[in-house]
Amino acid sequence: MNWEEIDTYAKEWVKEAGNRIRLSFEKTLSIETKSNANDLVTNMDKEIEQFFINKIRGMYPEHRIMGEEGFGDELNSLDGIVWLIDPIDGTMNFIHQQRNFAISIGIYENGIGQIGLVYDVVHDELYHAIRGKGAFLNGKQLPVLKESKVKESIIALNATWVMENHRIDHNLLIPLVRNARGTRSYGTAALELVFVATGRVDAYLSMRLSPWDIAAGAVIVEELGGVVTNLKGEKHNFLSQDSLFTANPGLHQEILKDYLRVGQS
Ligand code: IPD
Ligand code: CA
Ligand code: CA
Repeated sequence: MNWEEIDTYAKEWVKEAGNRIRLSFEKTLSIETKSNANDLVTNMDKEIEQFFINKIRGMYPEHRIMGEEGFGDELNSLDGIVWLIDPIDGTMNFIHQQRNFAISIGIYENGIGQIGLVYDVVHDELYHAIRGKGAFLNGKQLPVLKESKVKESIIALNATWVMENHRIDHNLLIPLVRNARGTRSYGTAALELVFVATGRVDAYLSMRLSPWDIAAGAVIVEELGGVVTNLKGEKHNFLSQDSLFTANPGLHQEILKDYLRVGQS
């Protein structure tokens, strides 16, 4: 498979999509809700997903597409080449802040991530990786991740998970928040993953994400030696929703063992 060629097209389309999003700042958005009043979608989320689908279908008709807004294929497996697309990750930020959102595209072959592209449109920062070829930010190679301990780490997580909730025993997270150097919450899983890749944060935890939130960032983080699993330390299947826990390797192990108590009865 010519991954370099696919990567070149994907980057070109991501940049073009970014331009469309920037131009949309001048126009009035049409905003709708999805599963609940805070689950938002705009005309731009839909337009950008359709833009990618048209490009991919035109160039690679045999590839399959999983898109958040549902214009792609209904997939029961990741056989063959699959594009996992989140046209705007951080839609709430896009609407309220016009920043802190990204385009996220992961390209997988038989379930293995081959290309990851996360484009921070407002900062014009493209994070990208081809499996085995290193990870880059705007063409500049990123260094392999250094290990860190909780006490000197910044952990990205949403405050919701430290309140009583039905996805995790929040008592596990309180000591983590207390012992960490600091916590951050950006409201965009794709960017939080690449912030782990660049060492801007050392770990990111979320209780429920979809395959398109994680697919691109996972390729980039793993390319730099970072670990990407769910909160039980298991690999994602990229077909269903799951939790996410990503960090540099030493920190991943420390949090899994000492805080999330994985492997202990
Ligand atoms: C959301 C963002 C957010 C995460 C949510 C996602 P969306 O994606 O990644 O950070 O906490 O779970 O759904 O809906 O803006 O594409
Ligand atoms: Ca998303
Ligand atoms: Ca989205």
